[in-house]
Amino acid sequence: MSRRIIPVADARTLPPSVQPAAASTRAPGGELFDALARPLRDLRISVTDRCNFRCVYCMPRAVFDKDYPFLPHSSLLTLEEIERLARLFVAHGVTKIRLTGGEPLLRKNIEFLIERLAALRTPDGAPLDLTLTTNGSLLARKARSLRDAGLTRVTVSLDALDDALFRRMNDADFSVGDVLDGIAAAQAVGLAPLKVNMVVKRGTNDSEIVPLARHFRHSGVALRFIEYMDVGATNGWNMAEVQPSAEVVARIAEHFPLVPLEAHSAAETAQRWGYADGAGEIGVISSVTRAFCGDCTRARLSTEGKLYLCLFASMGYDLRALVRGEASDASISAAIAQIWEQRADRYSQLRGSAAAPVTSEERRIEMSYIGG
Ligand code: GTP
Ligand code: 5AD
Ligand code: SF4
Ligand code: SF4
Repeated sequence: MSRRIIPVADARTLPPSVQPAAASTRAPGGELFDALARPLRDLRISVTDRCNFRCVYCMPRAVFDKDYPFLPHSSLLTLEEIERLARLFVAHGVTKIRLTGGEPLLRKNIEFLIERLAALRTPDGAPLDLTLTTNGSLLARKARSLRDAGLTRVTVSLDALDDALFRRMNDADFSVGDVLDGIAAAQAVGLAPLKVNMVVKRGTNDSEIVPLARHFRHSGVALRFIEYMDVGATNGWNMAEVQPSAEVVARIAEHFPLVPLEAHSAAETAQRWGYADGAGEIGVISSVTRAFCGDCTRARLSTEGKLYLCLFASMGYDLRALVRGEASDASISAAIAQIWEQRADRYSQLRGSAAAPVTSEERRIEMSYIGG
């Protein structure tokens, strides 16, 4: 049965207590910690809710068809509005920004936004870790202009090396060659470190784990295996289709011995492993079997300017209303602080427990709406 999810229906406007006037008592900027003492460090910005792929686990064609109500252009934050909000988040301690979609390379003039974001500096004067998640289909064409605009690295999604399987998974007739060309182009212009993300669905593409690992050995690419998650409401998720990361690591190690690597930081989503023969590294992202909410420093800004505190949230805070109103930077900054400071989301950690949040599946936001 297909259900139609209309993103605008899960809008939450700012709570009554967040009034622009509150800003006058608080200087804009400053580090923020949520109710579980987690700092705000990463901002993931979705720049479009559209995609040219129809991955079965993300935008199943039966739901995301020609009648699907994608957002009208007037609803999207403009690139200038995104830059303004990003600047305020950076003043609050954000050091890493990831552009996502849908497919972010479909957004017109994305290079202009990248130029603006690349010019931002943290309060310590450092540039941001500025990156982008793409399906790779437009990367061969765009790698150079992205790099020239100031992007430093990219992450490419790739779920299979076998062309027939890859076409079945993206359900839009893109060939694996298109994506491999995009990866090669990104490497050629120096977008590094380059990461490739594979979502593993047991029974669908787990046969591709070892071929993908073999393919990217000695390439300088960090291949990461992601546990298929129960995100959104349209992909018909069930636990039997989750391939636990421990099994992925064991399967690869049968062919290529692995050694554990140190984490770069506590907030890192992936556990890293190195090939014992020095051929590079892989990572596993175990959002289902080993939740990492305890160190989650990620905020998500939707295409239409709603701030979501968790990938599994059903409601976002409408920052666009402030941006398009008369709100000053100080007011918006105070609103961001108030929202983050009351954050207690930790969905993956609570999944299946009695304390699990009330988020009903019907209202959960879609991955294509908020980005990975
Ligand atoms: P790097 O800095 O490049 O290592 O990025 P990252 O691993 O933080 O981000 P990336 O977008 O590559 O994340 C890969 C996948 O991990 C996403 O597509 C999601 O499936 C999952 N993921 C990322 N962030 C979260 C999160 O906050 N919660 C959960 N449950 N999953 C997440
Ligand atoms: N489970 C895990 N990851 C997902 N992604 C999308 N849907 C899911 C899901 N159900 C991630 C993939 C993709 C990125 C855009 O979002 O990594 O590459
Ligand atoms: Fe696939 Fe990414 Fe597009 Fe979703 S947003 S359909 S995962 S390419
Ligand atoms: Fe963060 Fe929510 Fe993901 Fe947990 S489930 S890591 S709180 S986004």
